[in-house]
Formats: sequence, C-alpha cells, structure tokens
Amino acid sequence: MERLGAAFLIAGVVTFLLGFVLQGVLPMVTYRKLPVKTLAEISQDIPEEFRQLAEDYPEEFTRAFGEVNPASFAQALSRGRAVYIAEGCWHCHSQYVRPVSQEDLRFGPVSNAAEYNNELNLPPLFGTRRVGPDLIREAGKHSNDWHIAHFFEPRDVAPYSVMPPYRWFFDDKGRPNKDALAITAYVQWLGSWVEQVPQTIYNVDALAGAKQ
Ligand code: HEC
Repeated sequence: MERLGAAFLIAGVVTFLLGFVLQGVLPMVTYRKLPVKTLAEISQDIPEEFRQLAEDYPEEFTRAFGEVNPASFAQALSRGRAVYIAEGCWHCHSQYVRPVSQEDLRFGPVSNAAEYNNELNLPPLFGTRRVGPDLIREAGKHSNDWHIAHFFEPRDVAPYSVMPPYRWFFDDKGRPNKDALAITAYVQWLGSWVEQVPQTIYNVDALAGAKQ
C-alpha cells in the first residue's frame, strides 16, 4: 500500500514538473525574443474611423489631439486604453473571442496569440465577465456617433442596456471631451487588424450596409 502511495506521489510530482516545463518554461524561452510591435508602429496605420472622428468633432478633436497623424493617433490610443482600464470597462467586457460555442459567428474570428503581441495589448485585457459583448472585434461595428451617444446615455441607442452612462466624458454642453474621443478611437481600433468580421444580427451597422 505504501509503495503504491509513493508511486502516485512520484507520478504526481513528475507530471507537475513536466507541465511546468512544457507550458511555462518552454513558451517563455522560445517566445521571449519575438519582437513586440510598438505603439509608434501600430499608429502608422490610421483607420478611417479616426479620420472621421476629426471630421465629426473638429473643434473638440483639435483641442484634444491637434491634427490627424500617427503621433496624435498614438496619443489617443494609449489614453483610450488607460481610460478603459481606469473606468473598469474590463469588469463587464472581455477582449477575447473564445474557440467554443461558435463565438466566431457572433464576434468574428477566434482570437490568436499574435494579436496580443503589441504594446497596446500587453498586458492583454482578456477579462472574464461578459455583462456586455466581447470588444476585441469592435472596430467598425458601429459609427463614431453611435459610440459617443452610447457613452452619454447607453439606453438612447440600446434600450435595455445596463451599461452606465459616462457623463464625465462630456462637458456641460454635452460635447465630448478628450476622454470620450480617446475611448472611441480605442474601441474603433480593437480588431481593426482583422479583415473579415461576420455580418451577424449583433452587427447592426454591417447588416444595414449589406442591404444597401
Ligand atoms: C455594468 C457593465 C458595463 C460596464 C461597466 C461597461 N459596459 Fe459597455 N456594455 C454593457 C452592456 C450590457 C452592453 C450591451 C448593451 C449596449 O449596447 O449598451 C454594452 C455595450 C458596449 C459597447 C457596444 C458593443 C457592441 O458591439 O454593440 C461598447 C463599445 C461598450 N459597451 C464599451 C464600453 C466601455 C468603453 C466601457 C468603459 C468606459 C464600458 N463599456 C463599460 C455593459 C457594461
């Protein structure tokens, strides 16, 4: 009996060590040298939504970020991510399309490791709770105006929403401030690197576009 116990103990320790080496040490030493895309590199690729933001809110945009260029885009993105963290958006939203339950039908292609290997996604904001939808493929699902209206009062555009309004993203006349523009630029960037986002019932704007 004792010998059996000892055999299980040894088997357990060996399995643990094997797991530790294969899933912990090995990926660490092999992936450590992979280049991490910097914010400066990311911001070279300015999506249409960011240009539109400057056109839609010219005064507010100029005051907050100046002109549309890689530097102002980089500034908006990093501020947007900081706001996302500070406001606890990750408490209700994930940023990871899981390879289960046909999530790709709802949110777009399943997430892969390479997408997170850049300055703006490290550490990744995977999140676990999904009070609201996953956001890693949010780019282009709604217009900038939709997002601005949504941050001001979610129920104006999504009648049964439990998302709180973010009035401190606006001045006393209801004009979007720097944080509103930054968080909109940030959510419109999430997933902008993926070409194929499916047109599902959750993607209302894309559906409307498809009908035209
Ligand atoms: C209390 C939970 C909660 C918090 C906190 C929250 N949200 Fe939401 N969010 C939701 C819910 C629920 C929805 C779905 C209904 C709707 O569209 O309002 C949603 C929807 C969204 C959508 C639209 C998603 C889509 O594809 O239609 C975006 C973008 C979004 N939230 C961004 C944010 C950001 C950015 C923050 C932080 C500033 C935030 N949310 C904080 C619950 C939350």
